[in-house]
Amino acid sequence: MTAEFLLLAVVSSDGFIARHPGDPPWTWASPEEQARFRATMAEVAWSVMGRVTHETAPRPERKRIVFTSSVTGVAWLTPNHLGFNPAGARFDEVLDVAKVDGRVAILGGTRVHDYMLEIGKVDEIRLSIEPIAFGQGLPMFSGVAWAGVETHIATHGMARVGEDEVLNAAGTVERVYRKLPA
Ligand SMILES: NC(=O)c1ccc[n+]([C@@H]2O[C@H](COP(=O)([O-])OP(=O)(O)OC[C@H]3O[C@@H](n4cnc5c(N)ncnc54)[C@H](OP(=O)(O)O)[C@@H]3O)[C@@H](O)[C@H]2O)c1
Repeated sequence: MTAEFLLLAVVSSDGFIARHPGDPPWTWASPEEQARFRATMAEVAWSVMGRVTHETAPRPERKRIVFTSSVTGVAWLTPNHLGFNPAGARFDEVLDVAKVDGRVAILGGTRVHDYMLEIGKVDEIRLSIEPIAFGQGLPMFSGVAWAGVETHIATHGMARVGEDEVLNAAGTVERVYRKLPA
C-alpha cells in the first residue's frame, strides 16, 4: 500500500486558519475556494485531522484519522473514524490499521500540521489565501508567524511550485508546495 499526503488549508491574508477554535472555513472562505476544496475531497478516500476539526464538521460516512489524546494509541471511535494518539503509537501503525492507500487529505488544525510536517508525511501543500485579514487567530504551524511559513516549509524539504493561481476577482489565490526529491 502506498499513500500520498496532501495538506489542504485556507488562510486569511495574515496567515490564520481560523479566528478561534471551532471557527470553520466555510464561514469566511470564498465560494471558489470551497468549490475547489469539495472537488479535491471527492477524490480522497481518507483524511487526517484533529479532534476539534473533526467535531466542527462531523461526517459519519467519511473515513478519517482523528488525532485525540482520548485514545491510548490507535482505536476506532466509530466504524469510519480511527482515533490516533501520537503519545501511544507511530503514525505508520495507524496507516496499517486503517489500510490506507492512495491520496490522503491532511485537514489541520495547527498541531496536526506540525506533526505531519515533522514526520515527513506531507507530499504536497495546497494553500489558499483569502484577501481578508483576521489580526489574530490560529496559525498554520505552532510558533511560526505568517512571514516565516515559507521558510518553515522549506526547512522541511518542500518548495513552492509555479505561480500563485488566482481563483476569483476578489483576489483569492492558491499556492502549491511540493516535497523535493530526496
Ligand atoms: N482554514 C483551514 O484550512 C482549517 C483547517 C483545519 C481546521 N480549521 C479550523 O481550525 C479549528 C481547529 O483547529 P485546532 O488547531 O484548534 O484544533 P484541531 O487540530 O482540529 O484539534 C485539536 C485537538 O486534536 C487533538 N490533537 C491534535 N494534535 C494532537 C497530538 N499531537 N496528540 C494528541 N492529540 C492531538 C487534541 O484532541 P483531544 O482534545 O481530544 O486530545 C486537540 O485538542 C477549527 O475551527 C477548524 O474549523 C481550519
